[in-house]
Amino acid sequence: MIEAGNTQETESICAVAPMGLLAELTHRCPLQCPYCSNPTELERSSGELSTEDWTRVFKEAGDLGILQTHLSGGEPTVRKDLELITRAASDAGIYTNLITAGVLLTKERLKRLVDHGLDHVQLSVQHVDAKLADKIAGFKGGYSKKVELAKWVKDLDLPLTLNAPMHRHNVEYLDEIIEFAVKLGAERLEVAHIQYYGWAFENRHTLIPTKEQVYRNADTVDEARERLKGILAIDFVVPDYYAVRPKPCMGGWGSSFITISPTGKVLPCHAAASIKGMEFDNVKDRHLRDIWLHSSAFNKYRGTDYLPEPCKSCEFREIDFGGCRCQAFMFTGDAANTDPACSKSSFHKELLQIAEKESQMNEDDFMYRKFTKQTSKADASKVDAAKVD
Ligand code: SF4
Ligand code: FES
Repeated sequence: MIEAGNTQETESICAVAPMGLLAELTHRCPLQCPYCSNPTELERSSGELSTEDWTRVFKEAGDLGILQTHLSGGEPTVRKDLELITRAASDAGIYTNLITAGVLLTKERLKRLVDHGLDHVQLSVQHVDAKLADKIAGFKGGYSKKVELAKWVKDLDLPLTLNAPMHRHNVEYLDEIIEFAVKLGAERLEVAHIQYYGWAFENRHTLIPTKEQVYRNADTVDEARERLKGILAIDFVVPDYYAVRPKPCMGGWGSSFITISPTGKVLPCHAAASIKGMEFDNVKDRHLRDIWLHSSAFNKYRGTDYLPEPCKSCEFREIDFGGCRCQAFMFTGDAANTDPACSKSSFHKELLQIAEKESQMNEDDFMYRKFTKQTSKADASKVDAAKVD
């Protein structure tokens, strides 16, 4: 446990130290995936934290007890100072995981990042079919670059995780995706069904698979886990809409994880800014430790005392913490409510009905992720990596 230090507020609370820090270094990205977990209001590069800011933040994070950071985005490799940021995290004693789409890296730069303390690479995969991968990402030629990057990662003896966000357009290709992960030499594969926040929420009718497809995926994962023991570890995340009980989102609000946005906003989860009326502190104004312990945002839904019925008297409340605050806000208008993914929520039936209806829609008119939100189909052929600066 850590104790309150230099505080600006009078309340006295005690929190365990956070373990992980998601560092969204930038929202710039050459890809335009329609399920991107970034907020729909993307933060512009003009407001991004500087190298010095991130260096200080990682020092504060190390002092706070953070053990692992995910260097993410957007696409983190668009930051020209990624080497220095990686060094700062590593010097603070923090394990560094680069989450990348892999389309901008060269072997030389990857080697430099390793020399600056990079410990792990997590590579996203859109599809095993190169053309479909281009269509989903709104970017041409990504597939072959990912294969190349995976090889360099292995050449440099780094651990590799593949992250395969699952949806209607790749859900029937899970066997091939697993095979692809083995072929690339990944130690871990995340078969992560899309969670419908932000961009994915806007595109839900084009993405959500049927319940039967998700269940078939679960069987495929069970079989592959058995067959690939000692070769490939597989994580499996189901979409909330077909769950009976919700996931313990973030392991509980403000219990183990911090997200920092490109401009320095400190959030209890990557989607927290979607909850209207909340205020978030900035690392430019306040020490990370002070924010973690005393900010109104982190304390608002910490623990389980605030939970209303049915969570209040439910035996699972210390296991799932009532689910996800962001999803509760999206569906019920109050982030304190029970996550509608729970079958005990009065909104659960509606959630399932939406999923069942939209999973039957034969649409692929994606609203691609862009700085200016658009309403019509983007032309993937116009997308160019050079635009990220
Ligand atoms: Fe979890 Fe609340 Fe549902 Fe109980 S009622 S299972 S605590 S979300
Ligand atoms: Fe924000 Fe679940 S995504 S609490």
